[in-house]
Amino acid sequence: MNGYPHSSNLRIPTLSELPLPLRLTLALFLLSVGIGYISALVQLHFQHASPGALLPSPEDAVRVFHGAVDEKPKSKIEQLLPEDYQGKKMNGQGQMTAAFFKRSEDYSEAITERARELAKKQGVKKPDKALKEAAQAEVDRERDGERLAMIAWVRSGAKETEYKDDNFPLPPDLSQLTITRQMLVEQNGEIAEPRAVKIQTLFQQRCATCHQDGGEAQNFPLTNYAEIKKYAAVKTSEGMSLEKLAQTTHVHLLGFSMLYGLTGLILALSSYPRLVRIVLCPLPLLAQIVDISFWWLARLPEPQGPMFARCIVYSGAVVAVGLLLHIVLSLFNLFRVKGWLILVLLFAAAGYAGHEAKMRVIDPFIAQEKSTNTGEK
Ligand code: HEC
Repeated sequence: MNGYPHSSNLRIPTLSELPLPLRLTLALFLLSVGIGYISALVQLHFQHASPGALLPSPEDAVRVFHGAVDEKPKSKIEQLLPEDYQGKKMNGQGQMTAAFFKRSEDYSEAITERARELAKKQGVKKPDKALKEAAQAEVDRERDGERLAMIAWVRSGAKETEYKDDNFPLPPDLSQLTITRQMLVEQNGEIAEPRAVKIQTLFQQRCATCHQDGGEAQNFPLTNYAEIKKYAAVKTSEGMSLEKLAQTTHVHLLGFSMLYGLTGLILALSSYPRLVRIVLCPLPLLAQIVDISFWWLARLPEPQGPMFARCIVYSGAVVAVGLLLHIVLSLFNLFRVKGWLILVLLFAAAGYAGHEAKMRVIDPFIAQEKSTNTGEK
């Protein structure tokens, strides 16, 4: 035909027709990519998954790529002072609410003292169990008032003069707040009206006990206004910085494209039906482009942004499954029966090793991670 060789003369050999050295090299390349991808998943776990979960969930993706949703921007101090603090560790990611209760120096004394007062009022000699419980309920209510006052001060802008004067006038909605008497500003021995809270004293007695030299949290001192102010600034928890996003984008597009391109080319040379190859070979590359577009679209305002962020988990899964199919299908197509036997044995061994690793290492690790992050202190 026109002097050109017939197209069948240009027929590209399929994988199994390639010389053995080439096939062995390709096989080991595919295995290396597989192992490399597993370690990338391990990194993904450490970077973005919630404690106790193997891989990031759609909600993790929202947090990472879009930033916190349904959450008013809060200062670090407010974040660490939730009403419900049971089961959260007392650290920088957990809570500091316990500082007003059982982790305050005078908590049990305050309850004993109150129980005695209640007993005296009722004319009984020794407070019984019910009185002790009533005393604890009263003290708890007052201590929670301290917590609310601290949050109110931080929310109102954490003013320096109020701290220096140890006098924070309570906002109107808290003017009748139940709070520990000693924390209220006094005038001639009476509670000053309108009510104001000794905000500096509050920080000193409830926080500085640990947050000062020699204390449990001495590396994060809270002993003066400047030190406290740092944690009083309101911050929205934003998603990934633009700089980091641009960086991961090019790392993925340039680096991973090479990998997916090569594994795709290998599968393209297989003897699987044309349609299978047309769909599967370019799939990880296509899914990666979609995935990365979602990363950027996740920055849109609500409700679109979080929606795209959630999709990242699924587009990412398509990339992973596509790559897995490239590897497994190509490996089987590279060899004939004898080779398959080796591959089946290899995958069985990998499956066994994976199962053992899950039972002995991964599951205990995940369980431990979960308990140290949410467990009781
Ligand atoms: C019983 C000891 C204790 C008390 C009382 C206490 N904290 Fe903490 N705080 C800690 C520990 C421990 C950490 C974790 C320190 C670390 O990461 O090494 C911490 C961490 C913090 C952090 C995060 C520091 C950072 O940059 O990571 C803030 C903010 C904080 N506490 C605020 C407070 C406030 C406000 C109070 C008073 C209501 C308070 N703490 C009372 C023990 C305490």
